[in-house]
Amino acid sequence: MTSNRTFTMIKPDAVANGHIGNIINDITVAGFKIKAMKYLQLTNAQAEGFYAVHKERGFFGELISFMVSGPIVAIILEKVNAIEDFRTLIGATNPENAAEGTIRKKYAKSIDANAVHGSDSNENAAIEGSYFFSEFERF
Ligand code: CMP
Repeated sequence: MTSNRTFTMIKPDAVANGHIGNIINDITVAGFKIKAMKYLQLTNAQAEGFYAVHKERGFFGELISFMVSGPIVAIILEKVNAIEDFRTLIGATNPENAAEGTIRKKYAKSIDANAVHGSDSNENAAIEGSYFFSEFERF
């Protein structure tokens, strides 16, 4: 099987709570390879652009305020079956519903402060990754 890629962000809550190392460890132990990684704080315009697909949703304002509240880590990951396996590794969007042992169950506090983002399709992984990394920063 061919490897493919997913995109993740370690969100402001997990960064502020000191979980970057634990989360990257869980990700690499699960067999994902890091292809590109960046530590930065999103501007309002960047967060609104990244989450534009949710702009009509009632939670959009809170989502944007939260995502600009502190630094994040943006990462492109590679693995066979990357999208599905990463979503299994992180667990349900709402940590209350996340399975035991998943990243959100271990490190997340609420549906907004849910520790990590994970792409939902190959197409979105490519779009989301290119939002943060140029061709020259990926290998
Ligand atoms: P994420 O996978 O980064 O994509 C959109 C984010 O919106 C989601 O994780 C949650 O953190 C946040 N969010 C807040 N409320 C909701 C909701 N009711 N349904 C889905 N996502 C929500």
